[in-house]
Formats: sequence, structure tokens, C-alpha cells
Amino acid sequence: MKPTQAVCFYDASPDASDLRREVLAGLSAKPKAIPPKFFYDQRGSELFDAICQLPEYYQTRTEMGILRRCVNELAEHIGPECLVVELGSGASKKVRLLLSELRPSGYLGIDISKEFLLASTHRLANDYPWLEVHAACIDFSHHLDVPRCEAFGPRLAFFPGSSIGNFEPGEAVRLLSRVAELVGPQGHLLIGVDLKKDIRLLNAAYNDAKGITAAFNRNLLQRIQSELDSDFDAASFEHYAFFNPIEGRIEMHLVSSRAQSIRIEDRLFEFHAGETIHTENSYKYTIAEFGRLAQQAGFAQDVVWTDPARMFSVQLLRAL
Ligand code: AVJ
Repeated sequence: MKPTQAVCFYDASPDASDLRREVLAGLSAKPKAIPPKFFYDQRGSELFDAICQLPEYYQTRTEMGILRRCVNELAEHIGPECLVVELGSGASKKVRLLLSELRPSGYLGIDISKEFLLASTHRLANDYPWLEVHAACIDFSHHLDVPRCEAFGPRLAFFPGSSIGNFEPGEAVRLLSRVAELVGPQGHLLIGVDLKKDIRLLNAAYNDAKGITAAFNRNLLQRIQSELDSDFDAASFEHYAFFNPIEGRIEMHLVSSRAQSIRIEDRLFEFHAGETIHTENSYKYTIAEFGRLAQQAGFAQDVVWTDPARMFSVQLLRAL
């Protein structure tokens, strides 16, 4: 047996009370909404992994292609022995494209899904024995209080996958400001940003033929059923996703196919037929729009890499 490399683990995992509180508050709001971070229980993280391999979901393979092509230039900008801090590290697959070339001395993976985070950082530590691996289970939409890791050199935050698109532009600025603070002046953020494009391509990416995105969306209801005391028929809600050109975002909803009242804990929620729970926004940007957003958060947009079809971008931002 191979010896298992140690992973320093920092646990501030959100507990069931976060889910209860945010679901009850979200369903009491008008319009009804539940934040997308709750998609990522074990099954949700697995479904998301499956989405990333779908032919319609161009984002993952396009971003990985860009990362492969830009890593040399990136390493020149950053230099060796940095600390890579990954936000929403998930399966930690993308960072593997950077490690051999970039040669950081430390890696800190941050994710909300604890078991998934532990499993993937352990695999990473085993595959890269020269790398000091840390993991922090936190909800980074609330705070970025991570272990200090002061023994390391310059910091490179890594936020791939266009997860920044889940945040309203104002919230995105606040989150990126916290990242700027985390990396310090002249520290960097390498961020994946999905670009505005043909609406048909956008709509197809969130309405795949195999129905995996629909299963991912509905898994939120199954999660509520398994983790909270509730009584409702998950099959009475349908997946609905579309590009909203006015807001510049994909919206995902769960649509109640009939009038019904559902119980969660000691609360009843009334739905009329066709009423939705808004479960996700995924903002799309032009390169110039994102440059302005980065600037508001205290970053300069140093380098932007894209694919030939300009579907997706990987941007190197520098904290001022
Ligand atoms: C992980 C937020 C980038 O918005 O494309 C994929 C999540 N939702 N399919 C995205 C998602 C539906 C994804 N992000």
C-alpha cells in the first residue's frame, strides 16, 4: 500500500441549520428562491461532475483547453513556490493542469462539500507528494476566513469554472474584494469566466438531452426531503432554464406543475400552478464587462486567454 500523504484539514462546514434557515427564508421570499450552493451535496457534486462531461456543456472542456495552453505563460507571471488557493475546488481536476508547470509549494482547496473535498484533496496529495496540501471546508459566499498558511510565498487564488457567475454583480465585487485581500497587494487571481454568446448555445448547455442538468436541479428537492422534515412530491416540480438577455444571465428554476401546498419543518408554502423556485443564476460577461467588475474589486485585468471561438475566458487578475 502507498503511504497516504497528510492533508491539513480545517473544518467550518455549514451544518443542517444553514440549509433549514436558508430554505425556509428563501421559500418565504417573493419570488421564491433557494441559493445554488445547496446543490452540492454528495449526489449533487457527482451530478455536476457528469454535467461537466456533457457535449452541450462546452464550459469545462473549453476552460481546460485554455488552461493547458496558458500554463507556461502563467508560470512566467507567477514564478515558483507560490500558494495556490482554490475556491470551490470540487474534484480538484483543473488545478492538476497547472501544478507540474507552475510548481507551487502549497495548495489550499476550499469547498462547501466536505466529504467530496476530503476525498479529492487526499488524491491530490498522493499524486503530488512534493506539494503541501491543505483543505478548508467553508461557505466562501459568507466569508473567506481560511487558515493563514503564512509559511508560503506569493499567493495565487484560483477560481475556475465560471462559478463567479452564480453571484449577482454586486455580490461578485464583494467576493472578489475579499479574494484581493486574501492574496494581498500584487497577489493574483486566475479566474474562469464564461462569455456572452449565441443564445441557442447558452440555452442548450443548461437543457441537455440526457436530462442531467434537470436531475441536478431537482436533486435540490431530494436533498431537502432527506435532510429536513418535509412532505411534498418532488416529481411535481420541473426543470426550467433559459438565458435572460436583459439581465445577461442563465436562470434555473423549479416549476410547480400544479397548485399545491408543501410542508417543510413546521411551515406550509403555497404554490400556484406554474410558480417557480429560482434556484440559480449564471451570469455571462463580455471581457470588457468583467474587466470593469474586476476593477471595482481592486484588481487589474492583466492577461485574458480565450479559445478560438471566444466561448470562454481564463483571466489573470492582479491585486492593486
Ligand atoms: C458551477 C456555477 C459554473 O452555472 O454553469 C451547471 C453550475 N448549473 N449547470 C454553471 C451549473 C447548471 C455552473 N457553475
